Amino acid sequence: MSDHFKQLAAERAAEDVTSGMRLGIGTGSTAEFFVRALAKRIDDGLDIIGVPTSERTAELASSLGVKLTTLEEMPELDLTVDGADELDANLALIKGGGGALLREKIVAAASKQMIVIADGSKNVPTLGQFPLPIEVVPFGQEATRRAILSALADLGLPQKLELRVAGGQAFVTDGGHVIFDAHLERIENPALLAEALVEIPGVVEHGLFLKLASKAYVAGEDGVKTITPASILANFGCRRILRRTAKESKK
Ligand code: A5P
Repeated sequence: MSDHFKQLAAERAAEDVTSGMRLGIGTGSTAEFFVRALAKRIDDGLDIIGVPTSERTAELASSLGVKLTTLEEMPELDLTVDGADELDANLALIKGGGGALLREKIVAAASKQMIVIADGSKNVPTLGQFPLPIEVVPFGQEATRRAILSALADLGLPQKLELRVAGGQAFVTDGGHVIFDAHLERIENPALLAEALVEIPGVVEHGLFLKLASKAYVAGEDGVKTITPASILANFGCRRILRRTAKESKK
């Protein structure tokens, strides 16, 4: 079922793409649905150029006839569409379940807008149930691991880090780094944690994407819901108006 919702969200985002766009293309199973929806639109005449966030996405996109370039060739992008492992109501994200967080973050940051596509299970009140990926340089990785543990302790967070393994060996990212997954349960203050992690030498990047996403399409039983930071404000505004009206009607 979640695949169906991923596809719905991806197809909705593909509708937002217009000819001439320079497009960042995400990684993961939801992003794959997006690549397929995009390829269909290209068959119908849409003309875009894409920058993939991983070798995996590059392979799929070019096999489907999506024109690709690199961020070196095209350092400014109009829109990035990507999946997420978790997103909250402020559009803070955890990404990197597929190991592509570094390129994904660089591409998203080079884009004027980022649209997140997800099935409803990814939409959480507080980030942290999904382990936070932390990408680390292999050199001195034990020293870096200890520094991360000590930063987590300082923030009162659980000190549980797991080296990501694939096929019995340390998983290696497209950038040649390794990943520690941090099991944190609840990240009450993502900004503080992000700040602490980037200060650690050896940490290349982490999976907290803050203030990067401008909109999310989240699909579930009720169809595709749009989440924007503005819609949160609008909701608060509505609630205030509703409270005021309720008070006035009591008078
Ligand atoms: C890849 O590194 C990730 O950031 C993905 O975007 C994220 O893991 C979501 O993946 P799915 O779309 O496969 O759930």
